[in-house]
Amino acid sequence: TARTKLVAGNWKMHGNLAANQALLQDILSGLDACRTEVAVCVPFPYLAQAQMLLTGTQVAWGAQTVSEHAQGAYTGETAAAMLADFGCRYVLVGHSERRALYGESDAAVAAKFAAALQAGLTPVLCVGETLAEREAGATGAVVIRQLEAVIASSGVQALARAVVAYEPVWAIGTGKTATPQQAQDVHALIRGRVAADDAKVAEELQMLYGGSVKPGNAAELFAMPDIDGGLIGGAALVAVDFLAICAAA
Ligand code: G3H
Repeated sequence: TARTKLVAGNWKMHGNLAANQALLQDILSGLDACRTEVAVCVPFPYLAQAQMLLTGTQVAWGAQTVSEHAQGAYTGETAAAMLADFGCRYVLVGHSERRALYGESDAAVAAKFAAALQAGLTPVLCVGETLAEREAGATGAVVIRQLEAVIASSGVQALARAVVAYEPVWAIGTGKTATPQQAQDVHALIRGRVAADDAKVAEELQMLYGGSVKPGNAAELFAMPDIDGGLIGGAALVAVDFLAICAAA
């Protein structure tokens, strides 16, 4: 396909100034042969550090969530324009940890997605089912519901400026990866739903798989026709692993 591959690291709540510097320098020095788009989504306090170390390199950076509000009396929140101020290209929205641990509803995620776009960021919309939902045969219904909340709020055309990440919750941080076919099936379902509204947007939509992607399974996942890269958690904290995953894309 014509779609470019993207490998995005999600550092979650890990790191410190010294470790981040070493990690980013190791990534930068190992990336020479990589044609893939590469990004890291870092904790808010380290955005300035990412900007300082990554400006002018092939590695983009971003945040892990964003407020749905543009500004105002929202103590502790971070606006999309603030992320843009620090040079972010990407922001994750609706990561399963945000949905499960911080009560983010489909509607809240859709509002965050819209706020990110409004500030010129590329939202990475995360969708995915829990193990109970998969076992109940509800995988398709869940991811389509999560996707349709965004389509209803921002319109299908908005997906032309976004990335979708499919992350089955049961595969996140568990070492239990979806098989390439399991992941491909859900990616194809999502792309098909977008195509029902707009074939061109669907064809060009970058879709990442996330959930225990490692150097040993990345290539077979990225070889699937509707998988355009990965959203990497644990393995993004280890430079040699992250580089190996980038090289597999
Ligand atoms: O955003 C990343 C995902 O939650 C995947 O995390 O690679 O540690 O399973 P993981």
